[in-house]
Amino acid sequence: MEIGISAIGLTIPKYALPLEELAKIRNIDPDKYLNGLGCRYMALCAPNEDVISMAVTAAKRALSHWHGTLEQIGLVIVATETGVDMSRPLSSWIMQELSLSGQLRSYEVKHACYGGTAALRQAIEWKLSGNSKNKAALIIAADVALYAQGHSGEPTQGAGAIAMIIDQPTIAAISPDSFYWSEPQLDFWRPIGNKYPEVNGRLSLTSYINAVLQCFTQIATKQDLAACLNEYKYQCYHVPFPKMVYSAVKRLGDYCGMASDEILNWYEEKILSTMEWNQQIGNNYTASLWFTVANALTKTQAKEQISAFSYGSGCGSELLFMRCTENQSHATWVQELNQDFATRELINAQQYQELRKEK
Ligand code: CAA
Repeated sequence: MEIGISAIGLTIPKYALPLEELAKIRNIDPDKYLNGLGCRYMALCAPNEDVISMAVTAAKRALSHWHGTLEQIGLVIVATETGVDMSRPLSSWIMQELSLSGQLRSYEVKHACYGGTAALRQAIEWKLSGNSKNKAALIIAADVALYAQGHSGEPTQGAGAIAMIIDQPTIAAISPDSFYWSEPQLDFWRPIGNKYPEVNGRLSLTSYINAVLQCFTQIATKQDLAACLNEYKYQCYHVPFPKMVYSAVKRLGDYCGMASDEILNWYEEKILSTMEWNQQIGNNYTASLWFTVANALTKTQAKEQISAFSYGSGCGSELLFMRCTENQSHATWVQELNQDFATRELINAQQYQELRKEK
């Protein structure tokens, strides 16, 4: 039995700040943000938006493109680092908005940016367990990433949500096999009651790169790894900021014994374009990897394969694989996201400072 993605819904908030504007108020060379980190805009919630409203919009969009009905949903999982309650799961808010209740499981999962992948894997493994009663799963990854003003992570801020229906693989079949790696790290965390995360930036970079090596080196020997990776049309990564992905790919290419120009070609051909939306949005934590996957799927022909590497601070990581089942060049989620991009408001430095004023 093949299981995979049956529908996708994406959304981003109504505001965006060009990073040149942030550079002005932080007195930083804009090149550091644009080229040093590889970011362009950060997506920001307008005062009437939050993680719940984005999660609901993404879920409604995914459901509207699915051929099933609400009664056929047997599992709802919301992954987020932007939790609003220590007990009531975010999934309860979503169910309320969707008027969804009945014979289903519903909960929230947390493992930093890895949460969206954990939710998706739980859905796949629930389907494979034989206990899904032939129902589908609604998986949502939604986050609002904000740092304290002036923090080094501030230019990487972002927001957005993705919802996926996991059932028949009408969009992509996900391989039951995956390769995972986890170890206790204190690289990024947000203690209860703290509005913003604490970050050990240097440790987070080395921890991400180590997780890449730990996952990818499970799939083939050092000699065979580059050839094995070449089978994937696109290679998607969690994107804290695009240059992080380049650093990890460079390290992986070095490990495989590839020359610098070979690594650059590989990056430009198979990875860079999958981050097109992330550059326009910033880091949306649990949703970040899945935006790259949704992007890659629109450029992939039936039977072509994609790899997806997920990283969450703390830390947990997983490398998974999927096969595109149908050409998605006219994907509904692209039309909806493009509409969001076209209607969002670009704010300036002064409006950003006003928006960030503590209420
Ligand atoms: N022009 C061009 N490039 C410039 C420049 C300029 N004027 N000034 C600096 N740069 C370059 C630097 O050389 C550097 O490039 P290299 O990495 O290739 O050397 C790059 O810009 C970044 O500069 P710094 O290393 O000085 O940046 P920083 O220390 O101010 O901030 C950071 C980097 C610590 C990662 C910060 O963005 C941060 O705290 N981010 C949040 C944590 C994070 O995203 N970690 C990533 C892994 S953890 C994870 O994946 C989970 C998650 O989503 C948060």
